[in-house]
Amino acid sequence: MREEAPQIVIILGTRPEIIKLSPVIRACQEHNIPFSVLHTGQHYSDGLDSVFFDQLELPVPDLNLQVGSASHGQQTGEMLEGIEEYLMDRQPDTVLVQGDTNSVLAGAIATSKLDADLGHVEAGLRSFDREMPEETNRVVSDHVSDYLFAPTEQSKEYLLQEGRPEEDIYVTGNTVVDALYRNRELAREKSDILSELDLLDEEYFLMTAHRAENVDNQTRFSDLLAGVSKAAAEHGVSVIYPIHPRAQNRIEEFEIDVPDRIQLTEPQEYLDFLRLEADASLILTDSGGVQEEACVLRVPCVTLRDNTERPETVDVGANLLSGTDTESIQEKSQTMLSRPTEWENPFGDGKAADRILEIVTAKQQQVTR
Ligand code: UD1
Ligand code: UDP
Repeated sequence: MREEAPQIVIILGTRPEIIKLSPVIRACQEHNIPFSVLHTGQHYSDGLDSVFFDQLELPVPDLNLQVGSASHGQQTGEMLEGIEEYLMDRQPDTVLVQGDTNSVLAGAIATSKLDADLGHVEAGLRSFDREMPEETNRVVSDHVSDYLFAPTEQSKEYLLQEGRPEEDIYVTGNTVVDALYRNRELAREKSDILSELDLLDEEYFLMTAHRAENVDNQTRFSDLLAGVSKAAAEHGVSVIYPIHPRAQNRIEEFEIDVPDRIQLTEPQEYLDFLRLEADASLILTDSGGVQEEACVLRVPCVTLRDNTERPETVDVGANLLSGTDTESIQEKSQTMLSRPTEWENPFGDGKAADRILEIVTAKQQQVTR
């Protein structure tokens, strides 16, 4: 890469962004590309935030805006103000954001009004469900970005259908694979989570559910828990559920009785979670990143949603959508457990981060020449 590299600002704010941008941060370090990290503070609990910086050996962010939790408007507004101030002071050439959270939306809008180029990592994902706040965040971010780093040909196709220029779209693979490839052996060597949870000789299902449309709705959340529990009972296994604070809060607020078969744990560190994923018989989730990881690890997945912005996982046979209906969860679990797991990984070769930085630095060289 070039000697006089551009200055990059990497904006992140939540657990999945820390994980999926960790390969980009590492690639900047390895190629001596000047960069800084701006943390919005959207996630702040240790188990969603600092454990990942420690475990992935990431540098402490240059600045943490500490916006914390609030309504969408307040949270995004506070981020916008803080990000704009930081970028005006820092004057980067390029800003990178990843995914579909409010931190991404704020980073994208703030950058688009300034001189810096904006790169959206994981561009072009679409659930076509505008009820999801994440869908708004994706669409808006994609339409103000200068570089669209699409993980797959499918996501490129969606961007083209929306009229985004082909010359701005780069199919790079998903950085989730880079992070997974780098850490899965470490997880096998270092994580003791299976013995800690008494799972060494046990078959088990792993579940996560945190998405607002599921856990903020008492009926959907209760149905979902009942469905997962019944599916596990049919197979005589227990379920491990590392619970996101949003979901934990709703269980308390709605006074939901979690079925005995479901064992709640704190959110897991990355290596422990990878280990739990890799050894599970079945993963049931409404998480985006977990659908991808299950697919790459060749663990069958049932997605507790009516749609997915990761259709590649369904197309290759790694995933089925169950929604939150109890019978549908049981039925889809049964189907996935009886399928062979020889599907192809559609999310790339684990070199997405290097590709992204090559593209950014090459374009910057053209500009400065
Ligand atoms: C956010 C993203 C979602 C992503 C998820 C990753 C948006 C709109 N949503 O959802 O797309 O899948 O992150 O995990 O950006 N809380 C804590 N500690 C924290 C953070 C949150 O206890 O560190 C609790 C608070 O009660 C808060 C609630 O979780 O009100 C929701 O947090 P918020 O950042 O609004 O959204 P997430 O559900 O985390
Ligand atoms: N993850 C983790 N510990 C957990 C649950 C998830 O390390 O207890 C990781 C998981 O490996 C994946 C990411 O968090 O890389 C997914 O984040 P999340 O489900 O919060 O968000 P989403 O992907 O749905 O936006």
